[in-house]
Amino acid sequence: MSKIYIYKGFNRFWHWTQAALIFFLTVTGFEVHDSIHLFGYEKAVYFHRIASYAFLVLIAFAIFWHVTTGEWKQYIPNVSKLSAQIKYYTSGIFKKEPHPTKKTQVSKLNPLQAFTYLGFKLVLVPMMVISGLLYMFHKTVDGNNEIVIRDISLGSIANWHSFGAFLLVAFVIVHIYMTTTGHTYTSNLKAMITGYEELDDEKVADDEKNKAE
Ligand code: HEM
Repeated sequence: MSKIYIYKGFNRFWHWTQAALIFFLTVTGFEVHDSIHLFGYEKAVYFHRIASYAFLVLIAFAIFWHVTTGEWKQYIPNVSKLSAQIKYYTSGIFKKEPHPTKKTQVSKLNPLQAFTYLGFKLVLVPMMVISGLLYMFHKTVDGNNEIVIRDISLGSIANWHSFGAFLLVAFVIVHIYMTTTGHTYTSNLKAMITGYEELDDEKVADDEKNKAE
């Protein structure tokens, strides 16, 4: 067994903070939606607002980090290997076939992950942020005494925000299942905690060979 360093410090901090905030936003959001009762409506509204500000700050730092380190390039999916990856998750994995792509520090995401996370970053998160901000500033009055947003009904904003929340919960459930499909059930989880992933010596040797070629 060899260990390779896959997830840098900020990457891990951002991942777990985002996970905690999304969990908390889901709990408080669904209390506002009247699906669960934990803190009481008033407190749930207050906590949801505070957590959404923290989420916006985290997103700003994450965008800065992705751009300045060039990590954003990890999310460009390799379309030619996408179907092999889908075939692996729907059939090969149950026959114990090897993973069709290899994880390296330079390429930490498989094509399906890159494609899904790109959708998460470019569709799902913006959908929650935009609908959330519209919700927040609906019919509030700005410095010039003008109503900020009045042409969109609060009902449709709430529906979009709730729809996005359901999609996000579905994403998280699939995401947690996918984390168990690595080299061992917990190797991906451990990698996101420690930064290091354990790989077969054979695979590491292969990677070294690929790098040299
Ligand atoms: C920056 C991101 C977000 C912002 C700005 C935001 C903002 C808001 C606001 C303003 C409300 C209405 C409650 C209030 O008056 O404060 C709300 C409700 C809600 N939020 Fe968020 N939110 C965000 C992210 C999320 C996330 C990540 C989730 C969970 C997946 C979520 C789930 C919900 C749900 C389910 C409701 C109740 C909708 C309803 O039925 O009225 N929100 N959000």
